[in-house]
Amino acid sequence: MIDFSTTYLGLKLNGPIVVSSTPISESIENVLRIEESGASAIVLTSLFEEQLALESHALDEDLSRGTNSFPESLDYLPDLGDYRMTHEGYLDTIRRSRDAVRIPILASLHGATKGGWVRFAQESEEAGADGIELNTYALATDASQTSADVERQLLELIDGVCRAVRIPVAVKLSQSFTSIPHLVKQLEDAGARGVVLFNRFYQPDFDIETLEVRPTLHFSTPSELLPRLHWAAILYGHVNLDIAITGGVHSAEDVLKCIMAGGNVAMMCSALHIHGIEHISRVLADLRYWLDKREYTSIAETRGCLSRRSVPDTSPFDRGNYIKTLSSYSLRQTVAAF
Ligand SMILES: Cc1cc2nc3c(=O)[nH]c(=O)nc-3n(C[C@H](O)[C@H](O)[C@H](O)COP(=O)(O)O)c2cc1C
Repeated sequence: MIDFSTTYLGLKLNGPIVVSSTPISESIENVLRIEESGASAIVLTSLFEEQLALESHALDEDLSRGTNSFPESLDYLPDLGDYRMTHEGYLDTIRRSRDAVRIPILASLHGATKGGWVRFAQESEEAGADGIELNTYALATDASQTSADVERQLLELIDGVCRAVRIPVAVKLSQSFTSIPHLVKQLEDAGARGVVLFNRFYQPDFDIETLEVRPTLHFSTPSELLPRLHWAAILYGHVNLDIAITGGVHSAEDVLKCIMAGGNVAMMCSALHIHGIEHISRVLADLRYWLDKREYTSIAETRGCLSRRSVPDTSPFDRGNYIKTLSSYSLRQTVAAF
């Protein structure tokens, strides 16, 4: 019998597959199916901080109707009806999910300012969340904002939330930082217990006929896993916080790659949208088969074995990879041409 147990954010988990933030887990029926399929934790769909702001301004509007007090700064946001859940509904989902299953339930906030995050984090803790994932999707579109400004703001937010709650906090990071190891070390110092690599960047597409810029959402493919593996493998052993990988995890092979790179857990979302929740149990069965065949007794034995500090040749993780990849390609092309 293979031991699948692992730890993440100081929580004991019965396996390496966590369901990442997705509307799939909005229904309690699905939360139960997720546990039954063998997932070891669930990150709930996110509550958007803008939604908290809109709800509180909508309340102000109701109280002061006719005074035109609604600030213009909120005009660019979708209507309240476009959000998936109300703030109260979200806390209720935490409570009901917590009561329904034994696996850890992590709340998720998509936010940008300290006030909103701290309040939500405290409420989530009170509602029974076992941990919090903070999604830090911020885009620097203002030329006067420096990289250092962006990082400082992020660290202040994390510090504020970590001080406000007792439950562990993970940070879902964007890949667009110049020095990821340095930033992750600072997140650790600010109190984060885990880092989630990486947020997907939903770039809008351009319609050249209608001259419109449109939001797009495509499910991932396993090719998205590679930058995540790369950074997990670099971080492993150099930071003391836990590592989760999200983005491109579809199969048992992908899960193994995540753990071998140094991840504590692999998160799944697109694969569940494509194949259904029960895909988790098929992946776990494949994982068991693979490990058993190679006489591993636990998944923990594989952790970090392909990390940068474990492999004899670290050049694939460094600049050497760039040079090797490009020169091997030109060689192949030259051979094929003759
Ligand atoms: C339909 C859908 C909704 C999502 N909603 C959220 C969300 O509310 N908060 C969040 O942090 N990530 C959200 N994500 C991102 C996923 O949690 C995940 O990080 C990302 O899709 C990469 O994993 P995957 O390759 O397994 O899909 C969503 C993804 C999808 C496809």
